[in-house]
Amino acid sequence: KRPPASVIFIFGGSGDLNYRKLTPALYNLFLDNWMPDKFAIAGIGRSPYSDEAFHEHLLDGVTKFSRRKGKQNGHWTEFSQHVSYLQMDGDDASAYHKITDLVKQKEDEFGVHPNVIFYLAVAPQLVPSIATKLGALKLCAEKGTTRIVVEKPFGHDLESAHDLNMLLSSMFAEEQIFRIDHYLGKETVQNILALRFANALFEPLWNRNYIDHIQITAAESVGLEGRGGYFEHAGALRDMVQNHILQILCMIAMEPPVSFDANEIRNKKVDVLNAIRRISKDQVRDYAVRGQYSGGWKKGEKVVGYREEEGVDPQSNIDTFAAVKFYIDNWRWQGVPIYVRTGKYLNQKATHITLQFKPAPHYAFPSESAESWRSNLLTISIQPSMDISISFQAKRPGQTMELDPVKMTFDYDEVAGDHAPEAYETLLLDVMEGNATLFMRNDQVDAAWKVITPILETWESRPPQNFPNYAPDSWGPDAADALLARDGHTWINLPPA
Ligand code: BG6
Repeated sequence: KRPPASVIFIFGGSGDLNYRKLTPALYNLFLDNWMPDKFAIAGIGRSPYSDEAFHEHLLDGVTKFSRRKGKQNGHWTEFSQHVSYLQMDGDDASAYHKITDLVKQKEDEFGVHPNVIFYLAVAPQLVPSIATKLGALKLCAEKGTTRIVVEKPFGHDLESAHDLNMLLSSMFAEEQIFRIDHYLGKETVQNILALRFANALFEPLWNRNYIDHIQITAAESVGLEGRGGYFEHAGALRDMVQNHILQILCMIAMEPPVSFDANEIRNKKVDVLNAIRRISKDQVRDYAVRGQYSGGWKKGEKVVGYREEEGVDPQSNIDTFAAVKFYIDNWRWQGVPIYVRTGKYLNQKATHITLQFKPAPHYAFPSESAESWRSNLLTISIQPSMDISISFQAKRPGQTMELDPVKMTFDYDEVAGDHAPEAYETLLLDVMEGNATLFMRNDQVDAAWKVITPILETWESRPPQNFPNYAPDSWGPDAADALLARDGHTWINLPPA
C-alpha cells in the first residue's frame, strides 16, 4: 500500500545529501511505485535556482549515485514535474509563509490535506533556528500529518543532544520527530532482526553460554571527502560509534521483541544501551583506542596525513580511528566482550559483525587435525558484501580424518539483485508512512551519548602522545590489535568483496 499524499520540504535542497542520497532515493521509490499518488517535493536553499536548473542539478546526482545506474532516466521528466525549488533563507522567519502557501496550494490541488514533511539536511548548527521557525507554523501542531526529520549528528555531546531534544519536543510531539540513522535503513542491518527472531535455530545459542565474543567492524577506505571542517569537531567515535555502531550493537544484543511495534523495538534497544557497562575515566586506556592517519600511499596514490587536510588543525588530536571494548551487564551477555572499531583510510570498506562461538567442549579427533581447528563463526556482512555466513569444521575429503574450516553462506545479492532498496529509500518511505521503528527515540540518543561520554572526555583532556599512529591502507594503530590480544583474541578481517 502506497503512503498518503505528501509534501516534502528539503532544507539544504541544493546541498550534497539531497544531491547524492535523498533525490536518488525518492526517484527510486517513484520508479518502484512507492511514492504516493499525489506528492510534491520542494528543495529549499539560499542559492538561486530556477526549477529547470534545479531539476538538471538533481538529475546529475541521480545519474551518478542511483543504484539503477544507466537505466533510470526514462521517467525523470514525469518525476521532476513534482519537484520545485524554494529560494529562501532558513534564518528569515518572514520567508516561512512560502511554505504554508505551497502546502495550501497542494492541498487545493490534491483535494486532501497532505502529510507535510520537513527534512533538515543542513549543518547541525542551523537545526535549532529552522526547527524553531517551523514550530511557530500552525501546521506543525497537526500531530498526525506534520513530521520533522533530523539528520545526524544529533548534538555534539550529551548536554547539547539533550538541549536539542528539549527544543524539538517543545514544538513537536515525539511521534512527529524522525531522527535519522541511515544504518538502520540498510537491508542487511534490518535483516539482523529477521535472522535472530524469525528462526528457532540461532536464538538458543545467542548468549554468554555459547558466544565467546563479538566483533563489529565499520571500516572505511575513504578519507574525509572534503568534510575536514565537520570532522575536526567530531572524530570517529562521535561520527560512527555514538550512532551507527551502537545501533547495530543494540540489534545484535537486544532481547526478543513481543511485536514489531516502533516503541516495543525501541524499548528493547534502549535496554541494551542502558546495560552497557559504564567505564570510569581511568579505565578508558584499557577499553578504548584512538588513532589518526598519517600521510602515505593509498592504493598507489600519495595522500596527505589528517593534520595536513583542509580545515584541520595542524596539531589536531581528533581521532580518525576508534576501537572500543564494551560489556553488557545483563543475564544474556555478562562477561562477553564486544569489540567495535571504525576508521577512515583503512585497508578496505567493510562493515561486518562476527560472533565467535566458544570452542567445542572436547576434541575427539586425531591430534594432527587440531592445528586447523577453528572456533565457529557467524558473520553478518552489512556492506559492500551483503551476506550471512557460518564457518564450521568439516572433514577434508580423503582417507585420513583431517578437518578444515568451511563456510555456509546466504548471499543477499543473489536474491535481491538491484532490487534491494538503499537505506534512504526505506527511511523516506517510513517517514511518509509515519513509521518510526527505524528511527532513534530521544532516550536512545541520550543513552548512546552516556555510553561514550567518559571516553570522549578522557580523550579530550589527555592529548595522545603518538599521533599520527597509523598508515593509510592499514587496519589502524597497533594498539587496536593489542586491545584484543590482551584477551587472547584477534580482529577478524574478511577477504575483499
Ligand atoms: C556518516 C558519517 O554518518 O556515515 C561519514 O558521517 C561516513 O563519515 C558515513 O563516511 C558512512 O556511511 P556508509 O553508508 O557509506 O557506510
